[in-house]
Amino acid sequence: MTKLSFNHLLDANQIKESDIKKLINIAEKFRAQGHKKTFASGDCKGRILATLFFEPSTRTRFSFESAMLRLGGQTVTLEYGKSSSIKKGETLSDTGRIISNYADVIVARHPQEGSIAELAKYATVPVINAGDGTNQHPTQALVDIYTIFCEKKKLNNLKIGVLGDLKYGRAVHSLLTLMSRYSDNQFTLISHPSLTLDAEKKKTFEQSGCKLIETFELEPAIQDLDVIYVTRTQQERFDDKANYEKVKNIFCIDKKTLSKAKENLTIMHPLPRIYEISEEVDDLPQAKYFSQANYGVYIRMALLSLITKRV
Ligand code: NCD
Repeated sequence: MTKLSFNHLLDANQIKESDIKKLINIAEKFRAQGHKKTFASGDCKGRILATLFFEPSTRTRFSFESAMLRLGGQTVTLEYGKSSSIKKGETLSDTGRIISNYADVIVARHPQEGSIAELAKYATVPVINAGDGTNQHPTQALVDIYTIFCEKKKLNNLKIGVLGDLKYGRAVHSLLTLMSRYSDNQFTLISHPSLTLDAEKKKTFEQSGCKLIETFELEPAIQDLDVIYVTRTQQERFDDKANYEKVKNIFCIDKKTLSKAKENLTIMHPLPRIYEISEEVDDLPQAKYFSQANYGVYIRMALLSLITKRV
């Protein structure tokens, strides 16, 4: 009943609608208790979370660590692999095998696509992908879907704009995968022509029933939207920095852009925000990106409490 359909969480494709339902139900219970309470349930008492980050992170790592501590568990961490034997040439699969002796669940991020699956290969505890290059970021998609649920009270029949770097942004790839589970959503993909969603991915989403519209202009597209999911241009993925400079700030949501949008538009962003949302928007009721980071703790608490259950 409270079991998830996956052991390791490597790709948003593994997450079924039934998993989302279970996770949201539990996250709602945690959210109702609020941050200040000690969680009497102690769902993860005696459990250890290992966080292994080979790429920068603020929200993902801290919200996972905070979630584990709030559940009564403990954390051990390895940042940037600087002090690990990976520096000496140890493989990721050996690292997974070894860390399994010291933790009950592993959360890992790495710049290489497919690397977290490699780490999970011989791990004997659940491994959660916290971002593998441009590929996937499944728990960010859970945060995003939970935010949409909290803000819109539904997950279907929505017009969702996805703005920014659709080529390299892994959060977008995972979010589209999860949202395509729900009916009647329409996605407007807004990007610079050089940063569009990969044709192969587009085909896959369309085959799974996603209604996609592609455009290069923000202002006409924003008028119709219920949600806009904004992303930064992924500087670290560009081979040629001059190309990044050309496209880094071509879109910016400000008060003027919003004058064309619906009053109850929900603005989301996985963060960090660089150029793409003006600070003048932060205090508007439509701005939900800081709440989104807060919802992230509850949904990650739900995930950790279910994934570490020894049934
Ligand atoms: C995202 C990521 O790392 O992919 N950030 C996050 O996890 N909150 C988005 C990004 O870095 O642009």
